Amino acid sequence: MLSLSPSAELIIWARKKEKVPHYYNYELMKQLNGDKQMKDVWKLPAIAKWEKSCGKHPTQKPLSVLTRIILASTKPGAWILDPFTGSSTTGIAANLSNRRFLGIDMETEFLEISKNRKLEIENPTLAESYRSKISGFETKKQLELYLVEEPKEKEKVVLGYVRSKDIAKLIKQKTFYFHSTDKQNNLIGFPYDLHNASKIVIYSGGRTKLFYLTSYYGEIESIQHKHKTEIKGKKNSITEYYFEVKLKDNFQQDFRIESKKEIKKWMNEYKNEYSREQIDYLPFLTLAENIF
Ligand SMILES: C[S@@+](CC[C@H](N)C(=O)[O-])C[C@H]1O[C@@H](n2cnc3c(N)ncnc32)[C@H](O)[C@@H]1O
Repeated sequence: MLSLSPSAELIIWARKKEKVPHYYNYELMKQLNGDKQMKDVWKLPAIAKWEKSCGKHPTQKPLSVLTRIILASTKPGAWILDPFTGSSTTGIAANLSNRRFLGIDMETEFLEISKNRKLEIENPTLAESYRSKISGFETKKQLELYLVEEPKEKEKVVLGYVRSKDIAKLIKQKTFYFHSTDKQNNLIGFPYDLHNASKIVIYSGGRTKLFYLTSYYGEIESIQHKHKTEIKGKKNSITEYYFEVKLKDNFQQDFRIESKKEIKKWMNEYKNEYSREQIDYLPFLTLAENIF
């Protein structure tokens, strides 16, 4: 029986919550569409032979599709997750475009293909050659040139609360903790990209004192998501999650922080948005440039 062969796939563009900001690179998409606003129907060629150099996945996607999705919706350095990664076309497109990637699949056979594809592009000459072969660009060099010029991510700075009496301990241990205090064990208010923060600014205050910036700030060495059954000193809390933030040795006092307009504005917004109890534990992340 003759039938029409399917020639399109649907891409769903969604976000978890309205409050999570999304990113769309309008200008680049326009450029890739002959200087007209990008349309919601993309005509890109089927997967090419060179994309299967490490073996076959039955439903492997073309790199051109994933590259366009990634460039349209992420900034350089972004973390991209594909929980059904297959041969990791998403990951290869992400890494070729200077983004980070995490993939999950239940089939070790497919993860093997993924690993080999990743190993291939660790060779810079091969990576460059692949970039020049990805469809959807006007010239072979367009993607490579665009990636060189693509604006870098702004530095992410996180604001953390420490009780005045615990500041000495923080200076000594250089380990900071963010907790969730939500009774339903939801990580309310946790910024979705906390893991990308590179600096921390400490504020303090107490029950009788107003919040104030301590002038302590430092670079973040690592952020790890940990488990806990109860917050120290909060006997009835059922909070279960916290983040352990290791600070680098250059954690110090810098009085210039107090005069930084961006941080002041940020503190005020913060105070208005959250309750006293939430403020004690929640981090507040901002994008900040040239603060220090
Ligand atoms: C459509 S394929 C992804 C193809 C991929 N985009 C590529 O270009 O190679 C979906 C993948 O999801 C994996 N998968 C299906 N159910 C899964 C599950 N419950 N957990 C993890 N992986 C799963 C399958 O093994 C398959 O490789």
